[in-house]
Amino acid sequence: MSQKSKFIALKNYVPIGLPSEDDFIVKEQVIDLSNNNDVLVENLWLSVDPYMRARMTEKKNYKEPFVLGNPMEGAAIGIVKKTNSNNLEVGDYVLSNHGWRDKFVDEDNNLKKIKPNDFPIESYLGPLGMTGHTAYIGLFKIGKLKKNQTILVSAAGGSVGSLVCQIAKLHGCKVVASTGSDEKVDWLKNELNVDYAFNYKKTDNLVLKLKEIMPDGFDLYFDNVGGDFLEAAIFRMKNYGRIVICGRISQMNSTKTPEGLKNIAHVLVKRLTIKGFLIFDHENESENFQNDMSSWLKNKKILSKHTVYEGLDNAPKAFVDLLNGKNIGKMLVKI
Ligand SMILES: NC(=O)c1ccc[n+]([C@@H]2O[C@H](COP(=O)([O-])OP(=O)(O)OC[C@H]3O[C@@H](n4cnc5c(N)ncnc54)[C@H](OP(=O)(O)O)[C@@H]3O)[C@@H](O)[C@H]2O)c1
Repeated sequence: MSQKSKFIALKNYVPIGLPSEDDFIVKEQVIDLSNNNDVLVENLWLSVDPYMRARMTEKKNYKEPFVLGNPMEGAAIGIVKKTNSNNLEVGDYVLSNHGWRDKFVDEDNNLKKIKPNDFPIESYLGPLGMTGHTAYIGLFKIGKLKKNQTILVSAAGGSVGSLVCQIAKLHGCKVVASTGSDEKVDWLKNELNVDYAFNYKKTDNLVLKLKEIMPDGFDLYFDNVGGDFLEAAIFRMKNYGRIVICGRISQMNSTKTPEGLKNIAHVLVKRLTIKGFLIFDHENESENFQNDMSSWLKNKKILSKHTVYEGLDNAPKAFVDLLNGKNIGKMLVKI
């Protein structure tokens, strides 16, 4: 028997500036199990992520723009309610990319079964999911993290950044964390035990600040923000340092045309390595990550914090607030 699914769609593209809740619309569609392998899933948790901002413009990116009026895609965890499939049973938890909707029908081969083991199911959208994997691949494979290095992390109070800080601390590194609120500074210092945390919004001169904190400079900079912060970090890198380009959130919503880096001479003279990456290229390299992260979480060596908004209708607000830095740790929506 068919039933209705409620979903959130993008109403219009947002070429520049911060999106608002008014850029989204709530809609309904009829769904039904029709194919042999079809499964009806009720979503429980949705992820809102900065990369979605890039899909809200018509510009070509590494993923296609969202289709106006269609359900917003994104990672979600749900529970199987009905099934025509032999591979999934009612009550199974599944990870999908069927984002901002209360329920959906899809074939079983588009769904990944999750065994919750000892962890809350929503962890698979945070430390055990894409953002945890990003922190792990970014640090080890791209950043070639070594023990006892000095590391700078931007957007350190968020999902990727807070995991980067903790993994680096587990490797005996000295971690300097930048974030945008005093509450996040306190969390990073007092609960995640980073060596130094500061509020970049209260910092007049980033280069001098970084020099004061770590006079000998940094071996590794994990860049989540790009822009002026990246330029300041380049000034303070050690010779042969590495910069991991993970994100550019400071430029995503900017109304100004981004300027080029003015200190490329430092990249040359210090023989720096700057390397970008996309986690989607590393989907088949998750075994070590899953084993290590599970063990760290089980042994409380890594703490994971979630900021949770309740209700599908609040997904646009959660997304806009994420871009405004209102989250501590991973931003999630609970349906
Ligand atoms: N390369 C990949 O495959 C990949 C995968 C996942 C994520 N990422 C990137 O990694 C970064 C972090 O993602 P996440 O999911 O963990 O998000 P998040 O850090 O949990 O949330 C985004 C944070 O960005 C900060 N921010 C917003 N505007 C800013 C600005 N103008 N300048 C500096 N910081 C700003 C805010 O924190 P503050 O309070 O600190 O301002 C906000 O909380 C993003 O850039 C994202 O695009 C990349």
